[in-house]
Amino acid sequence: MKIAPRLVAWQRKHGRHGLPWQNTHDPYRVWLSEIMLQQTQVTAVIDYYQRFLTRFPSVKVLAHASADEVMAHWAGLGYYARARNLHACAQQVMRTWHGKFPPDAAGLVTLPGIGPSTAAAIAAFCYGERAAILDGNVKRVLARLLALEGDPTSRAIDLQLWSHARALIPTARTCAQDPEAMSAYTQGLMDLGATVCTRSRPKCEACPLKKDCLARLQGRCDELPWPRARKALPERSTAMLVAYQAGQILLTKRPATGIWGGLWSLPECDPQLAPTTACEQLGLSVKTTDTLAEFLHVFTHYRLIIRPHLVEVAPEGATHVDAAQGLAGGGEWVPIHKLHERGLPAPVRKLLDGLTAARLIAER
Ligand code: ADE
Repeated sequence: MKIAPRLVAWQRKHGRHGLPWQNTHDPYRVWLSEIMLQQTQVTAVIDYYQRFLTRFPSVKVLAHASADEVMAHWAGLGYYARARNLHACAQQVMRTWHGKFPPDAAGLVTLPGIGPSTAAAIAAFCYGERAAILDGNVKRVLARLLALEGDPTSRAIDLQLWSHARALIPTARTCAQDPEAMSAYTQGLMDLGATVCTRSRPKCEACPLKKDCLARLQGRCDELPWPRARKALPERSTAMLVAYQAGQILLTKRPATGIWGGLWSLPECDPQLAPTTACEQLGLSVKTTDTLAEFLHVFTHYRLIIRPHLVEVAPEGATHVDAAQGLAGGGEWVPIHKLHERGLPAPVRKLLDGLTAARLIAER
């Protein structure tokens, strides 16, 4: 099967153009966009990408920035291991590659946070390398095009998909004549998956590959690819202390790895524990407490029920040292108007924004 010429032509006419990371061959910019776009929609990424580039305009600036500041610019995008790897990758590019990204996919894939598909995307966009991508969207496109049965997350299907992905890229001859063919092809596959060959209700009439698509010819677009077997997510619960006094909120730094690793967050305690007891354990002397409505946050591997306790702390019990004693990651009183400088998990930011808007906490 030959799809590259049609996909390239389709991308140039109907694909996405003018996104802030397009029309450049700068590996720093392309790499940053590809990491941000993993598991994240284009619309969610655009503002983050621009703010990030303004603050960290080069791999050198990023490598020399503090982990805290990198996390603060990532906060809200989720999957925080990406930000930690991003920082580590920038440092490795400075140290091992003298500040220049490796010149091919084989070199790129050795860097932290860059898997085979991301390495191929960067190499295709920046260097025109004939490297195949295979992200979640592309798996769906290929599973339909070739009517592949089976669980697309299984190793057997994965290997088949990779072998097809490699066989379908533009020929060496095409690439010699058209140096942007790999870039258009790669972007075309991504655009097709995002805008036409969508998981539900694909727009097959608009598809440049409709004449070849085996799933469409067999009337099976709605059953292919097989859905991933989904397990019911386990549920956990926690309580968060919104401890405030004199226009400040008590924050604590999360451990570097794990959920929300490296972000600043609210101190947590056992939801069965009375908030006054939890505060005493932290060395805080409490004036009033108020338990607010629980809310849910869904992670990839579990659902977390969060019960917020609003705690007004007496000024004498609110010194930096006291508060830090009971918190593994240390505690810091942060003025409400400076919360935006900290990398906070999205649900924590939402909670604090809601409390500020409702004037339940105030700058004073
Ligand atoms: N998803 C991953 N990479 C992308 C890109 N370059 N453009 C649009 N969506 C993407």
